[in-house]
Amino acid sequence: MISGVDQHAVERAAAALRVGDLVLMPTETVYGLAADAADPRAVARVYAAKGRPAFNPLIAHVADVGAATRIARFDDRAARLAERFWPGPLTLVLPAIDGGVCDLARAGLDTVAVRVPAHPAARALLSAFGGPVVAPSANRSGRPSPTTFDDALEETGSAAAAAMDGGPCEVGLESTVVALLDAPRLLRPGAVTRAQIEAVIGPLLEAEADARRSPGRLTRHYAPNAPVRLHAAAPLPGEAWLTFGPQGPGQDAGAWNLSPAGDLTEAAANLFAFLRAADRTNPTGIAVAPIPEAGLGEAINDRLRRAAGFVG
Ligand code: TXA
Ligand code: MG
Repeated sequence: MISGVDQHAVERAAAALRVGDLVLMPTETVYGLAADAADPRAVARVYAAKGRPAFNPLIAHVADVGAATRIARFDDRAARLAERFWPGPLTLVLPAIDGGVCDLARAGLDTVAVRVPAHPAARALLSAFGGPVVAPSANRSGRPSPTTFDDALEETGSAAAAAMDGGPCEVGLESTVVALLDAPRLLRPGAVTRAQIEAVIGPLLEAEADARRSPGRLTRHYAPNAPVRLHAAAPLPGEAWLTFGPQGPGQDAGAWNLSPAGDLTEAAANLFAFLRAADRTNPTGIAVAPIPEAGLGEAINDRLRRAAGFVG
């Protein structure tokens, strides 16, 4: 029994995975829509529920490093990153070992993305299930990732046979994705920062321009319904206002302040929930104040550029 986790909910969810059904699974980053990674029919249902193009591969989630080494080939760099950041919000793209994660989940690539999540409910489910579990963010394709149980239910709950309430996600942004195929490449900035990774394995190259190698980097992703306007000094009439850092008296009345203290960790945790909240007011647009690029700011700005429809 893992403390704070409802064991019955874990067993119901594991049973659903075993028969090829989908499960809403909380992680420390965002909620995932989980399925048995070895079952192509279950994986096909994930793509269908999300409306996700089947050329965009999924991340396999496992309980520990040992399980990861059964589906992916680890080199020394991968071992050091896993040792330092797992369980946690880092995904490694590595050469796949046949027979682990099905072809469809890998979108036919000979590589596999793998991570060991830190959320106790996810860990309990992965241990109970025993095999690798794909879990893309539980949003419908192109929309902001859900960071609360209610948002996850609203997005893809109708496709899930079981749903685990793990509370609000602590991190609020998806995992960092690093490919270790040749030189290390940052495919998606995320909760583990570039500097933290470079401290362990040295310099990170950018993702290749070839979109098939980093298919998640699609234009207009993580997007609310309203158009998003970045680097705004102030909202225009009719626009919702997402701001950051200390404001003058009355300056952020009616605004969503991602972090009044100017803390990027807090801003990351609030980002998707606030985009959704702003969107629900049916504004003509969502204006977003500048966010510093340092540390976690790289990942926050990456998501905002995509929400606004710019290629990164
Ligand atoms: O934090 C997260 O990673 C969340 C939680 C639920 O764990 N999951 C998540 O999954 O964000 P998803 O499917 O929304 O994003 C997976 C990313 C995509 O950008 C995809 O293109 C990339 O990982 N990816 C997966 N397999 C890959 C591969 N073999 N090569 C390159 N990129 C890959
Ligand atoms: Mg996603």
